Amino acid sequence: ADRSKIRNFSIIAHIDHGKSTLADRFLELSGLVRRDKLQKQMLDSMDLERERGITIKSHPVRLHIGDYVFNLIDTPGHVDFSYEVSRSLAACEGAILLVDATQGVEAQTVAHAYKAMEHNLAIVPVINKIDLPSADVEGTKRAMSQLLGKDDIDPVLVSAKEGIGIEELIDRLVKEIPAPNGDENAPLQALVFDSFYDTYKGVVSVVRIFNGQVRVGDRIRFWASGLESEVTEVGVFSLKMVPTESLEAGDVGYVAANIRDIREVPVGDTMTSAVRPADAPIPGFSAMKPMVFASIYPTENEDFERLRESLKKLQLNDAALVFEPESSEAFGPGFRCGFLGLLHMDIIRERLEREFDLDLILTSPNVEYHVLTRSGEYIEVRNPSQFPDFSEVELVEEPYVRGTVVVPSEYVGSVIQLCEGRRGKMLHMEYISQQRVLLEYDLPFAEIITDFYDQLKSVTRGYASFDYEHIGFKEADVDKIEVFINGKKLDALTLLAPKSEVLRVARQVASNLKHTIPKQLVEVVIQVKAGGRIVARETIKPLRKDVLAKCYGGDVSRKKKLLEKQKAGKKRMRQFNQVDIPQEAFLSVLKAD
Ligand code: GTP
Repeated sequence: ADRSKIRNFSIIAHIDHGKSTLADRFLELSGLVRRDKLQKQMLDSMDLERERGITIKSHPVRLHIGDYVFNLIDTPGHVDFSYEVSRSLAACEGAILLVDATQGVEAQTVAHAYKAMEHNLAIVPVINKIDLPSADVEGTKRAMSQLLGKDDIDPVLVSAKEGIGIEELIDRLVKEIPAPNGDENAPLQALVFDSFYDTYKGVVSVVRIFNGQVRVGDRIRFWASGLESEVTEVGVFSLKMVPTESLEAGDVGYVAANIRDIREVPVGDTMTSAVRPADAPIPGFSAMKPMVFASIYPTENEDFERLRESLKKLQLNDAALVFEPESSEAFGPGFRCGFLGLLHMDIIRERLEREFDLDLILTSPNVEYHVLTRSGEYIEVRNPSQFPDFSEVELVEEPYVRGTVVVPSEYVGSVIQLCEGRRGKMLHMEYISQQRVLLEYDLPFAEIITDFYDQLKSVTRGYASFDYEHIGFKEADVDKIEVFINGKKLDALTLLAPKSEVLRVARQVASNLKHTIPKQLVEVVIQVKAGGRIVARETIKPLRKDVLAKCYGGDVSRKKKLLEKQKAGKKRMRQFNQVDIPQEAFLSVLKAD
């Protein structure tokens, strides 16, 4: 292909600002799909994604419009997958910065725009939803120019829904986004910005070729993993995968090379030739790391092996999922799993339950702690119950994020109060429009995964948007909180909390458990231990006798109904010390009231 006629770009936008709708218009224009055939939001392919209305995986698509080839590289919309956003942007020369005229610049707009600027991308500003009466084009334009640090921007005004302004946008993409450069005769240098597992082809690497070319039969090498293999197929993404003879500098496409383990082709790695390797990899690679950890137990021990097989199957297509077997004193065998974030965790749990029909208990998620012991040993603690004895601990570190909040000015006070209460440190605050303020905070990630987002929504009546990125580990001062049910320790409920908060958290845990563990035949005593002593206690009175009598008396059909109800009620419930512990007990444990 003539490289001067290629444009590689992404659309960066806050959730619901119309990215998928705009992508649909491009697909139509390219003739890939007709409007009446167009399934709503073609690019979101997984069912789960469509149901949740979010884009999880990147799907590039090659569009022929006029004389040009546009490679539209989709970016995941959720902060859990922000590393993938960054790698997708690295595959582009330009980006559409899409802002909903009725909403204005939001947290994700800011976070993604910064990333695009870091990658030196040509940014084409676009204001969407101009068909709506509440569209504020002028205000949105001002906020966008402030964000981009330019006095005078000339945004393209579109309605993705009505198809207004799309041709003009195409012209602007051609003019303002540079064609890719590179040398097709140089050694192969390709960025792997996504990968997935295909039953027939094996691992398929989604690549942007920066230099050189690749064709069937070539021997390739992956820089970070060192894996070498022979190419079995190369091609481009139309709506389906279409094999081609080769891929050259400037192209976006896929390479299959009979690879079986997706973890050997990490996103961000450089693919080169094994015969004539490039001098250097494409910069910016860092291995994707799980940031959130939780244990998964089958509610029936006999399902343990099936759970292992199911996790393995999910891992085939998800290099970010990690798990290892562990054994809880309370629940027996299960798996300690690592996820990118809470959404990723939720997706895995849902897929295990839906696609593999498993009934599970998932423990409350926690972050990883780095611990240096007095004897000089360094430990990465991913399970609070395995935290070493505090008398042996020299130093603890926990992960931090840099968070961006955008909020109407009347809620600034509440946001500050929330962030300070979550051990946040303010870095920056500015007005991005007359009514809206942007705040930047460094916060412990542990605070984010304990219902920060719900609290933020609640104190701002849903008007705040939020985005964050991981910035590394900082010193922490934590204490262990342990839960005893009728005198026996339930290790799966052990958690860590900041020392200054430990009493409050312990009481909260006790109270939350009291409200989520249902009444039982026996009395349930909940004790919570912190700093080595019991600091909170709650009791759940047993079911009353007459309630029981009602349950077990009565006619046969009622009895049957009741039994069925009980069986349904058993779902996501696990016995411990003769007490039924429901899933909600784990999920609620850290919720503030
Ligand atoms: P995520 O995939 O969740 O990030 O959302 P998205 O950014 O892809 O947004 P999507 O395209 O799903 O659009 C969100 C909503 O806005 C949908 O209900 C669209 O129909 C609507 N929408 C998109 N563009 C326009 C537009 O130009 N005008 C109007 N009135 N509605 C629009």
